[in-house]
This record gives sequence, C-alpha cells and structure tokens, in this order.
Amino acid sequence: MNIGVLGTGMVGSAIGTRLVQLGHQVRMGSRSADNPKAAAWVAATGGGASQGTFQDAAAEADMIVNCTQGAATLDVLGSIGEDTLGDKILIDISNPLDFSRGMPPSLFVSNTTSLAEQIQHTYPRARIVKALNTVNATIMVHPERLGEDHEVFVSGNDAGAKAAVSTLLTSFGWKRIVDLGDITTARGTEAYLLLWIRLWQTLGTADFNVRLVRASG
Ligand SMILES: NC(=O)c1ccc[n+]([C@@H]2O[C@H](COP(=O)([O-])OP(=O)(O)OC[C@H]3O[C@@H](n4cnc5c(N)ncnc54)[C@H](OP(=O)(O)O)[C@@H]3O)[C@@H](O)[C@H]2O)c1
Repeated sequence: MNIGVLGTGMVGSAIGTRLVQLGHQVRMGSRSADNPKAAAWVAATGGGASQGTFQDAAAEADMIVNCTQGAATLDVLGSIGEDTLGDKILIDISNPLDFSRGMPPSLFVSNTTSLAEQIQHTYPRARIVKALNTVNATIMVHPERLGEDHEVFVSGNDAGAKAAVSTLLTSFGWKRIVDLGDITTARGTEAYLLLWIRLWQTLGTADFNVRLVRASG
C-alpha cells in the first residue's frame, strides 16, 4: 500500500519504519518538504521511504496515519484539504494534550467530544479510525515487546475502515484488538491519557499497557 504518515516525531518515525519493513511505500509528511528529521528517517530507512509536505504525503496515499501534535492536527489536515482527504482511511494516533500549564498536561477537548470526532466532523467523507494512541511509539509497532498479550482499541464509524486498520494492526503483531464502536468512543481512549501519564510517572517507564481481564462463563 501507499501510506502517508503525517508527522516527523517519534510516532511518525516508528510507524513509518515498521510500515516500510512490512513492504509498504511510505511518504512522511511535514510542514516543509525538506524537513531534516524526515530526511534523516528516509536515509536510515531506505527503500520504500520518502518525504514531502503534509499535502504530498496524503495526495497519493491509499491510507493516511495522523502522527501530528494534537493541537496542530486540524491545521495540518486543513493544509491538506477535503479534496485530497476524500474518503480515505485516516488512522488518528494524536492525543489532545495541552502542556501550556506544564506537567501533567490536561485535555483541550474531552467529555462530550474528542479530537477524533472533531476530525470526523470537519471531514465527514474521510473514514477516521482512532487507534494506537493509548500506547507509546515503540509498543505501537512492536506489541510483542511486553512479553504477553494486551489490548489495543479502535473507534470509528465505518466498519470497513476498522477492518482494514485491524488487518494493519495484526500485521504489527497486535492480537487483542477491541472495537469500541463509533467515533464517539474515542472520548474514552483520549481521556485514558490522563491515567496513562500518571502511570508513566509512577512506573518510571513508558513500556507498559493495559490488559483486560473478564470473568469467565
Ligand atoms: N510519543 C508517543 O509515544 C505517543 C504515544 C501515543 C500518542 N502520541 C501522539 O502522537 C502524536 C505525535 O507524537 P510525537 O511525539 O511523535 O510528535 P509531536 O512532537 O507531538 O508532533 C510532531 C509533529 O507535529 C507537527 N507539528 C507540531 N506543531 C505544529 C504546528 N504548529 N503546525 C503544524 N504541524 C505541527 C510537526 O510538524 P513538522 O514535521 O513540520 O515539525 C511534526 O510533524 C501526538 O499527538 C501525540 O500526543 C504520541
């Protein structure tokens, strides 16, 4: 697949590298076509990896992955535009974190909406699937790193898009994929960051995830 990865940070780099390793063609997008972090990623990753603007990354993509800072996400998607986004599947990994008052951050949207819903509302034809925002960049693409099975969540309005994203997650190694329902369920996975950050501070590592345990029978 041709996949556009929006973002040059830890997440964009980890997702992009894994996708290239799995045989996909990946264009990493940034505000500038010659972003040095994207250039370093292309040089390190090799075949299948390229860079461009956010618009370049989205234009020829079969699927788009949003790995941009949450506060910038709507601006980034605005720079791409509705015509280019069309009805493409967009995996939204961003979190609506507000660090303006220091640590721990708060959420700049929550409770009755979510960043994923704001994206879906702004681009009603695009098929938004919230996923992977509840784990750190390394675990996103190497869930086996934790040594036992654990959960990843998907939220979205389009069943076909969630199935396609689940196939991609399975190729990353995810075995426990929980379909929470429509895009409003992203309120829960985004707000989970409030707990994730406290766990990270308490445990002193980002190498963890939650595992669901249900009563049998
Ligand atoms: N780090 C993690 O382990 C982790 C885990 C789960 C979820 N997330 C979420 O994943 C997303 C990416 O996280 P990250 O740590 O990889 O990177 P990040 O530093 O949060 O975001 C980097 C990207 O955001 C873009 N950006 C920043 N400010 C911008 C602005 N004013 N206008 C347009 N674009 C702007 C940058 O564009 P340029 O390339 O042009 O500089 C860059 O591509 C975030 O929403 C984060 O909350 C992160």
